[in-house]
Amino acid sequence: PVDLRVKDLLHRMTLDEKIGQMDQISVVRMQGDCQWSGGAFTEACLKNVIVDNHAGSILSGGGAGPAVNTPGNWAAMVNTVQKYAVDNSRLHIPVIYGVDAVHGHNNVLGATIFPQEIGMGSTWDPSLVEDSGAATARAVAATGIDWNFAPVTDIARDQRWGRYYETFGEDPLLAGTLAAAAVTGIQGADGAKNVAATVKHFAGYGEPGNGHDRVPGDVSIRYLQDTLLPSYKQAIDAGAKSVMVNSAAVNGIPATGSHYLLTDVLRKQFGFQGVVVSDWQDVRALQTSYHVAADYPEAIAKAVNAGLDMAMEPYDAQGFTDGLKAAVQRHLVSVSRIDQSVSRILKMKFQLGLFEHPYVDASKADSRVLGADTALARRASDESQVLLRNDGGVLPVSSSAKKIVVAGSYADDINDQVGGWTVGWQGVPDGVALPGTTVLQGIEKAAPSGTRVVPAKTAEDAVTQAQDADLTVVVVGEKAAAEGTADSPRPELSADQQALVKSLKATGKPVVTVVIAGRPLVLGDADGTQGLLMSWLPGSEGGNAVADVLFGKVNPSGRLNASWPKDIGDEPLYYQQLPGTNAGPESTYDAAYPFGAGLSYTTYDFASISARSATAGTRDTIHLKVHVSDTGDRAGDVVVPVYVSQPVSDVLSPSRKLVAFAKVHLAAGQSRTVTLDVPPSRLAVTPGDVDGAGRQQVARGDYVFTAGTHTATVTVR
Ligand code: IFM
Repeated sequence: PVDLRVKDLLHRMTLDEKIGQMDQISVVRMQGDCQWSGGAFTEACLKNVIVDNHAGSILSGGGAGPAVNTPGNWAAMVNTVQKYAVDNSRLHIPVIYGVDAVHGHNNVLGATIFPQEIGMGSTWDPSLVEDSGAATARAVAATGIDWNFAPVTDIARDQRWGRYYETFGEDPLLAGTLAAAAVTGIQGADGAKNVAATVKHFAGYGEPGNGHDRVPGDVSIRYLQDTLLPSYKQAIDAGAKSVMVNSAAVNGIPATGSHYLLTDVLRKQFGFQGVVVSDWQDVRALQTSYHVAADYPEAIAKAVNAGLDMAMEPYDAQGFTDGLKAAVQRHLVSVSRIDQSVSRILKMKFQLGLFEHPYVDASKADSRVLGADTALARRASDESQVLLRNDGGVLPVSSSAKKIVVAGSYADDINDQVGGWTVGWQGVPDGVALPGTTVLQGIEKAAPSGTRVVPAKTAEDAVTQAQDADLTVVVVGEKAAAEGTADSPRPELSADQQALVKSLKATGKPVVTVVIAGRPLVLGDADGTQGLLMSWLPGSEGGNAVADVLFGKVNPSGRLNASWPKDIGDEPLYYQQLPGTNAGPESTYDAAYPFGAGLSYTTYDFASISARSATAGTRDTIHLKVHVSDTGDRAGDVVVPVYVSQPVSDVLSPSRKLVAFAKVHLAAGQSRTVTLDVPPSRLAVTPGDVDGAGRQQVARGDYVFTAGTHTATVTVR
């Protein structure tokens, strides 16, 4: 029936109306004329965008919301736009409203803020990511919004790149599995509306040439197929309704104009049937930045013919309408191609129930969003903590500790611990206080009554106070930022923070370093404290989560999803290194803390790994069993990763590559046998000695699967 409804509606639309559906306008453009501030938009603005230009979609880019930023006002604002579209567009077609709710409904003041994706990645917990996605979607839906531009599904291996923290990290299988879970959560949420997820940014956005955002990337077809594409495929297979295109160029062609990426790979190979939307002003960029089109109609034609359905052209409704019309008149784009895109867009609107339920009850938005899901966010934050050092069992904090000093400029700043894309685009705007718990507050709440918590006022005070403290917790990190401003050629801890930690170490008293940052930071002089906890950007519940781990209420279970470099010159650093002649894998991959690292307050033993069959065909799934035990004296959640290596292979293979994982709970002393399946797609690589010679295949030969120190070999015949 949806297809029939789409056909019927499309049949009744004029070319102008169809073109409008393919255009996405920023609410800022509307506010510019309309001064929306909790009241009504002016008629002139709404008319221009919705009636004269028939815009099919509206978005709020980071931070662009109502002036009084409450959930109720968001819902009222979106309802206002929607009502205008339904009442005044000739065929009463609702707009679809999109927003970047990438870690909770981070656009709204008072919403629960989850850890950023990089922290969610370190949980290795798909069901938690799914639940978090669902909670986010419920909050998004309560504010009237139908479309979430999440999850970021890019593989990121260069920590100089400022959007590193928005990804699930460096590993294709981990990132793809978590992105798929996020899609399921977002789209399956039982909220006031249905919400569409967006797999972004297709493809290869996490591969900026020199670490600067949107710098063209050059990748071999082998690297693209074997490393960069699989995560998008996994998330698309989970049913994502939309895909957003990479702003950058890949191998000399801007992704927005790449027929290869948007049609050959996305549609034909992956079978994607949903809506493809560009990133911000990227269709225009084909002309103005990339110069692959002589004028705007040519740029639009290039993008649409490549496979784009909707242009995020935030400020220029008229320009896009005129441009696409001119492209049709000049026979650069066919109407049937336009019909195809409009059908996809209308289908998404029908599937989301927009025609039946265009509005939400704005009076319920506050209660549905404010403070909702804090327990889940705390669990997410708890699970994302990665304990990297615990020398002499400095943690959990001894119950006999009398004095704990809390130092460092990241100890008591809630805005720093949530990162970019939080209320504002670059992070929480100055002067806005985000509800939540800082590390200092978390420690103060959690400390036993006999323990005095002393916040250090200055670096000097910290060192003085530390002299007679049982423990100093020093919280260091990096400021929040987003697109454009977050790139850094030196992802390292600042000199003043290194100096502070160095002086604290020199006291000879126990020191635990907590890092609040969206990427590993080279620690320099700050490395080597007895305790090291990577907290990432842990969200509004982050302070509670840090305290949960410090005081042992939570047994840490996070594992690094990002290799931690010793030196900034090591970038890009990732564990799937290929062998060379002058260096074994150990010397090409010399991480301070490697991928998968993470300690616990108990001990685990991976006792064995076995394969159901010692041989397999190239199209067979390989069934493995791993026996794991908790050999310590407390319960814990343990990540069970299985890596593969090939003793001999035509195409270079890394010494370890993640092919399966699970996260299981074990009581103290408990053992479990975990079943893990490796479908052939996880072993497939691009064959041949000419780059891009073909599609992926599973090569014949031996595959060694490793869990802990144990191995099982399967011969693929
Ligand atoms: O969704 C985002 C994208 O990730 C980066 N550019 C802007 C888009 C809309 O805000």
